[in-house]
Amino acid sequence: MPIQIVHSIQDLHHARAQLSGRVALVPTMGALHEGHATLIRLAREHADHVIATVFVNPTQFGPHEDFDAYPRTLDHDAALCEAAGASLLFNPSAAQIYPAGFATSISVPSLTRRLCGPHRPGHFEGVATIVTKLLHLTHPHIAIFGQKDYQQLAVIRRVTNDLHLGVEILGAPTIREADGLAMSSRNRYLTPSQRQAAVGLSRALAHGWAAWQAGERRAEAIEQLGLKLVSSLPDSRVDYVEVVHPDSLDALVPDQGAVMALAVRLGQARLIDNLRLDDALPAQLSAHL
Ligand code: PAF
Repeated sequence: MPIQIVHSIQDLHHARAQLSGRVALVPTMGALHEGHATLIRLAREHADHVIATVFVNPTQFGPHEDFDAYPRTLDHDAALCEAAGASLLFNPSAAQIYPAGFATSISVPSLTRRLCGPHRPGHFEGVATIVTKLLHLTHPHIAIFGQKDYQQLAVIRRVTNDLHLGVEILGAPTIREADGLAMSSRNRYLTPSQRQAAVGLSRALAHGWAAWQAGERRAEAIEQLGLKLVSSLPDSRVDYVEVVHPDSLDALVPDQGAVMALAVRLGQARLIDNLRLDDALPAQLSAHL
C-alpha cells in the first residue's frame, strides 16, 4: 500500500482513526538512512501499522547548532518509509506543532546533568517535549528509538513512565557501517578525510570495552583511554568521553554494568556513539582490537 503523508494535526487525527490493530511510532527528523529503515522494519514486527514522523524540531537545537543546515529530504524519506513498511507519515510544520504562545516544557534534570546535557543546553527539554507531543498525537502502542541516542532513550523512558503515557518504549540496537561508524544523518557533513577519522570513535569504544572486560572498573581510567584515541584525530574537538551507570547515567555502581558514551566534533559534524561495556561487542567494533 502506498504510504499516506499528512501535514496537519487534523489530517493526522483522521488518518490515525483509520488504522486498526496495534500501532507503532517511529519519530525521526528526516534525512533517513538504513538505520531508520531498520527501526521501521522492527516496528512493523511489533505492530499492524507503523506511523513515522519527520519533523526537524527547532526546540532541540541550540542557537549555534545545525537547525538550518539539517538536511530536508522529504521525498526520499517518504520512499524509504514506504519501502520499510510504514503506513502513515506525519510531516507537520513548526507552526502546527508550536502554535503562538506555546510555553510548556518537559525536563528530566537527573538524567541530563552529564554526557550531552551540559554541551547542549535545552536539547533534552526540546526532545522530551516533542516526543511527548508526538505520542499524544499518534496514540501508539509502542514507540521505537535507536540506542545510538542512549541518553535520549533514557530520558524518553523516564518521561513515559513518570507521566503514565501508557506506551511501550523499545530501544533498537545501533546500526553501524562496516568499519563500525554508527549510522547518523549527520555523517553526511563529513569530508572524506573526516569520514576516515570518524572510525576513531569506534576504536575508542572497542578499547574501552576491552579494558572493562579485562577487569578495569575505574570510569576515569577508561575515559582517559578513550580520550587519548579521539583527541588525536585530525580536525577533532572532543565534547566528552564518559563512562557512566547504564540507568542513572551517573557514577558507576559495582556490579551494575557501565555504558561508555562519547561526543566528538569532526569539522561540521558532531558525532555521538556509545557502548554497553558489560555486553557483547558488536562485530563491526571487534576489528578495532
Ligand atoms: O532522534 C531524533 O531523531 C529526534 O531527537 C527525535 C526523537 C525524532 C525528536 O525530535
